[in-house]
Amino acid sequence: MNDVDEVKSRLDIVDVISGYVPLKQTGKSFKGLSPFKTEKTPSFIVSPDKNIWHDFSSGKGGDVISFVMEMEALSFPEALEMLAKRAGVKLKPRASGSQVGSSQKTNLYNASESAMGYFHLCLSKNELAKAYFIKTRGLSSATIKNYKLGYAPDSWESLTNYLTQKGFAVKDLITAGLCVEGKQGKGAYDLFRNRVMFPVFDAQARVVGFSARILGTEKTAKYINTPQTPIYNKSEAIYGLAQAKEAIRQKDLVVVVEGNMDVVALANAGFENVVASSGTALTELQLKQLGRLTKNIAFCFDSDEAGIAATLRAIEIAGDMDVKIDIILLNGAKDPDELLKKSKVAWQKAVDGAMYAPDYLISFAKDKYSVSTAPGKKQFIKFIVPMLASLKDDIENQHYVKKIAQLLDVTEASINKLISQKSNLQVSHQVPNTGSDVNGEQGVEDTPQEQRKLTRQEKLEQNLLELCLAYPEVVSSIEDLDLAKTTDLHRGIFKLLKNTPKAKLTTLLKSLPKEENYVKILALRGEQNYADLSAHDIRLEAFTQVARIQEVSRQTAKHQLAREVSQAELEGDTKKTKQLLRDYQALLNED
Ligand code: UTP
Ligand code: MN
Repeated sequence: MNDVDEVKSRLDIVDVISGYVPLKQTGKSFKGLSPFKTEKTPSFIVSPDKNIWHDFSSGKGGDVISFVMEMEALSFPEALEMLAKRAGVKLKPRASGSQVGSSQKTNLYNASESAMGYFHLCLSKNELAKAYFIKTRGLSSATIKNYKLGYAPDSWESLTNYLTQKGFAVKDLITAGLCVEGKQGKGAYDLFRNRVMFPVFDAQARVVGFSARILGTEKTAKYINTPQTPIYNKSEAIYGLAQAKEAIRQKDLVVVVEGNMDVVALANAGFENVVASSGTALTELQLKQLGRLTKNIAFCFDSDEAGIAATLRAIEIAGDMDVKIDIILLNGAKDPDELLKKSKVAWQKAVDGAMYAPDYLISFAKDKYSVSTAPGKKQFIKFIVPMLASLKDDIENQHYVKKIAQLLDVTEASINKLISQKSNLQVSHQVPNTGSDVNGEQGVEDTPQEQRKLTRQEKLEQNLLELCLAYPEVVSSIEDLDLAKTTDLHRGIFKLLKNTPKAKLTTLLKSLPKEENYVKILALRGEQNYADLSAHDIRLEAFTQVARIQEVSRQTAKHQLAREVSQAELEGDTKKTKQLLRDYQALLNED
C-alpha cells in the first residue's frame, strides 16, 4: 500500500471531518452544514463507506486529504503530512529531486523553531524588553506565551553562536533569514538585534519567520521582517492565524488588521479572532485561506491614507470571492490598538457597527466626488461600477443600483447598462460542479487542476451516471446510448458500464483508478438526490436522461452540419453543399 492509501485507510473520515463540521448520521452517511457556503439546510455529506465527502451546495468533494487541504488551506503534501501524523504513519521520503529540497526545508523549520525558543528565553531574562511588552504594551504573560513573543539581544552574534553550537549550518541560518552573510567573507551576523520579536507561524503552526520591532523610538526602521525564504512567503503568511483559527471558526468571523501589535493587543483583551497581513498589502492568497475558515471577513486597517488605500484594494480583491466583507471604522483612533486603549467597549462597538463593504464604498465615493456635478457623477460611477458588477446577488444588486440612481439623480437603466458592459469583459471563474480534483499520488501537482464549466450534455450525462452508479438495476437504460456521441469526460465510464452491466461499484472503481473519486462522488450524489423516488420512478428518470442526452447530441450534430453547409456554400462547393443538405434533412426527419 502506498502512503496515501495507508493514511486514508487508518483514519476514520467521519472522525476527522467532525473535528471541523458537526455531523449527524442519516442512514449510511453523515450530514452537516456546508463549511464552504452559508446555509440553513445541511447539504454537506460524508460517506464512510466510500471514504469520501461531498458538498452539494458548492459542488466540492473528495477524500479526507482534500478536505483537510480545503479547511486548513494546505497543499497536498502538507495535508498528507498532517494526517500521517494523526494516523501514526511514517511517510516514505519523497521521490528524487524534491528530497534535497524537503530536507533543507526541515533544517530551516528547525532553525526557526530553535531561534524562537532562544528569543523567548532571552525575553524572560531582559528586564527592558519585558517591561516593553508588559508595561508599555499592557500584555499579560499568557499572551506573551501564546504568541511566543521574544527578544533578540543587542549583539551581532549571539543567535548565530547559539544556533551553530546546536549544530545548525551557517548557510541554513542565512537561507532561513536569521543571519546575514558578512562582507568580504567575514562570517555571518545576526539580522535581528535589540528588538522585540514576533514569530510568524504557518497554517501548520510551524515557525516560518519573524517580525521584529524596536523597543523605543530609535531613528531606524520600526519593524524589520524575515525576507522571502524557502519557508517564508510573505504573500501567503498570515500573522496570528495559528492562534486565531479556532476563534475564527467559532465566531464565524475574522478581523483582519494591519499590525502584529494590533493582533496581539486585541487577543490580550479577549478578541481572539484577529489576524494581520503583516507588513504587506493583503493578497488573494491570504484572503483565500481566510475564506476557507469563514465567509465573514472584516477589515480594520489603519485610519491613515495608506490604510484606506489598502482597504479599497482588499475589497477589490475580495470582489471575485465568495466572502462577505465588512469594514470596521476606527472613529478617530489611528489603529485598533489605540482604539482598544480607550476601552474594550469602544472596540466591541466598532466591530458591531462595521459597515458592509458596498455601503463603505458608496460613502467613501460620496465624500470624494461632488455628486451634484456631471464630472463628479461620472467619476463616482466609474469608481463604483466594479463593485456593482461583483455583486452576485440579484436583490442586493438592485438595492444598490436604486440607491446610487437616487443619489446621483440618474436612471437605473443607465447604471445597469454600464454594469453589463463591465460584466461582459470579465472571464468567468467557474467553480467545479463535482470535485474530480484529487490526484492521490504523493509529490504530484500541489494545486488541484483548474476546473471549467460543464456543457449541457456533460451535465445530463452526470445525472444519468449518478443514477446508474447508485442504482445498478437501471444500468440497462444506457443500452441505446451511442458511445461515439457521448462526451470525452464520460465515455470511458459509460463504456465500462455497458461492457460489465452487472459489476459492483467496487469492481468498477478498480478499472477506473484515475476517476475513482469522481465516480464515488457521482454514486453518492445519486444516492442522495434520488433517495425519495420509487424503483419505478428511478427507472423512468434514467430513461428520460438517456432521451435528453440523445436529443442534445442530435442538436449539436445539427448545428455542426449547418455550419458545414454554410462553409461549403461559401467555398462554392455545390456538390458538397447538396450532400450536406441531404444529411441535414435526414437529421431533421428524425425529430
Ligand atoms: P505601523 O507603523 O502602523 O505599526 O505598521 P503598528 O502596528 O502600529 O505598531 P506599533 O503599535 O507602533 O508597535 C503596521 C505594520 O506594518 C509593518 C509591520 O508589520 C507593522 O505591524 N511595518 C511597519 C513594517 O513592516 N516596517 C516598518 O518599518 C513599519
Ligand atoms: Mn500601533
